[in-house]
Amino acid sequence: MSDDSAAVRFTVLDPSNSPESPDENRLADFYAYPDDLRACWVRGNMIASVDGGATDGGTSGSLGGPGDRAIFTQVRQLADVILVGAGTVRAENYSGAQSRPAQRQARRRRGQAEVPPVAVVTNRGTLDRDAKIFTSTEVPPLILTSANAVADTGDRLGSVAEVIDASGPNPDRVDTAAVLGILAGRGLFRVLAEGGPQILGTLMEHDLLDELCLTIAPLLVGGAAPRIAGGPGQVHTPLRRSHLLADDAGYLYARYIREASLP
Ligand SMILES: NC(=O)c1ccc[n+]([C@@H]2O[C@H](COP(=O)([O-])OP(=O)(O)OC[C@H]3O[C@@H](n4cnc5c(N)ncnc54)[C@H](OP(=O)(O)O)[C@@H]3O)[C@@H](O)[C@H]2O)c1
Repeated sequence: MSDDSAAVRFTVLDPSNSPESPDENRLADFYAYPDDLRACWVRGNMIASVDGGATDGGTSGSLGGPGDRAIFTQVRQLADVILVGAGTVRAENYSGAQSRPAQRQARRRRGQAEVPPVAVVTNRGTLDRDAKIFTSTEVPPLILTSANAVADTGDRLGSVAEVIDASGPNPDRVDTAAVLGILAGRGLFRVLAEGGPQILGTLMEHDLLDELCLTIAPLLVGGAAPRIAGGPGQVHTPLRRSHLLADDAGYLYARYIREASLP
């Protein structure tokens, strides 16, 4: 054994050593946002294959299984707002979030709207008015777009969405810090970023991602699948593991929090 490995305490994640099987309420504890937020706390939730692919056949859907869908739903229920890039809305034909009666009650108890709105980030604003994000949703989405696209986008979408200028110094581009400022201004502090890789990469590049929940699917996809984070920005952001759950299908569910965000 090398000197290095002698200094490390490894832990075997064996269910017989740790027999807890969290129910829905306990699962919510594992994914609770910090209390008393005064600014946005941004949680990314992504899935990757074991070889690091973020898609399988062009979308992330076939990477998932029942456990991943349960966590996906759970973290949605804890969020004030779901943040997603226009690329993902187009590729996955996104619709609005849904809440069951018990979830609505829990959300009301937490002082949240019964259903979290989806906020879509788009520089160009070119979203199809007939897309499910507008037609299959209980609450109209927020469309966060650039100064140069806001008027046209608002005219085209009319009452099916709330279109907001979220650009910074460049009128052609959405500014991620401006996005979070807008959400915070509405009291939407518990942000759930569902991707895709471009948006996650931008959040990481600007050091705006507080935590990452990552599902590892027991699958190899090879090929040209993107990683869960893209873009040109190189970062080196230390994280701490908050938990690691497993299911019988072989999936792993990790939550990592940025060291700088820890109390
Ligand atoms: N594995 C996973 O967990 C996961 C999660 C989500 C998505 N996905 C997959 O990822 C793919 C889509 O991801 P994507 O990376 O192509 O798109 P994306 O991150 O969902 O959206 C990118 C779009 O966001 C807009 N945008 C606005 N400001 C931006 C900024 N500062 N930086 C980057 N984009 C900005 C642009 O929209 P406009 O072009 O409208 O201007 C851009 O085209 C799909 O295949 C989807 O299935 C995987």
